[in-house]
Amino acid sequence: MSKISKYLKEVVARAVNYNQFHSDFLRKLPQEFHPPARLQFVPYLSSDERAIAIKIEAFRSQIPKVSEAQKIASYTSPHSGSFQKDAQGHALSGEYVESNIEAHVKTGSPKLKGMLLRRIVEGYGAKRVLELGTNTGFSGSYFVSAKGVELTTIEGSESLCNIADKNMRRISPHYRIMNNLFDDAIDLLIKEKAKFDCVFIDGQHEKEATLHYAERVKPLMSENAIYIFDDIYWSDDMNDAWKELVYTKDFSKAVDLFSVGVCVQEEKATGKTVLYDLGDYLPRPNIFRKNW
Ligand SMILES: C[S@@+](CC[C@H](N)C(=O)[O-])C[C@H]1O[C@@H](n2cnc3c(N)ncnc32)[C@H](O)[C@@H]1O
Repeated sequence: MSKISKYLKEVVARAVNYNQFHSDFLRKLPQEFHPPARLQFVPYLSSDERAIAIKIEAFRSQIPKVSEAQKIASYTSPHSGSFQKDAQGHALSGEYVESNIEAHVKTGSPKLKGMLLRRIVEGYGAKRVLELGTNTGFSGSYFVSAKGVELTTIEGSESLCNIADKNMRRISPHYRIMNNLFDDAIDLLIKEKAKFDCVFIDGQHEKEATLHYAERVKPLMSENAIYIFDDIYWSDDMNDAWKELVYTKDFSKAVDLFSVGVCVQEEKATGKTVLYDLGDYLPRPNIFRKNW
């Protein structure tokens, strides 16, 4: 489907399902998830949000100038079915590959996605946020722009950590960047007895890796914590991971917001997750990387 026909299909679905979205979806959806769901249905920012987004986005065009090199390495997302662990039970990361700085700039969460993340933590009242996958610090900047949020973010590439630091320090001092592989940082955080109300898993987009990290961060999560899974329509494999997380893990609620999936871990989860699915009201995204 061309981009234009996809866009038109979405516009029509928004118009046709507008009343149903409000009277049916929002009526059932727990109140704390209304702000992000509304943003996905009608991509409109408040004036405060627009002002914050302008400040955050101003850094995007600066990155090639402040970067120490024009080519920077990062950990790529491996192909499905390639997951392996080492003797310690740590996931083997994807390949460490150099790309142009412009490619990294594009990888960072764009404005509406960043605001979606911000609305999720704000709506839920999550203050201590853990992020797997810092990149250039755009999702991080949107997180720390929310009042009271303290972010711990993990990134294997030192050069990206340096850029992310320059990015986020313009917005808030309340963040810590850990330049480690995810499993190593998780070990350190467990030793420190750190606790988080929210985790954003946004690196090594592969089914088994996603399930692995969701399991590994569990000792770090507070009661009623939320798990945000990025790119649940990135590949068939990532979409399988999402379905498995929703239906087989100990979450009580799950919200499919297309660009991310959010799960709530509750102490007394019954094993039966209630799924709130935007796909009942808007055309579901196509899988981005078919046969990955
Ligand atoms: C998709 S990007 C994160 C984007 C960022 N959260 C945003 O939305 O702006 C994923 C990042 O995770 C890092 N990464 C992937 N696998 C990793 C691993 N096993 N350990 C540490 N970092 C990893 C990559 O280097 C990359 O910069």
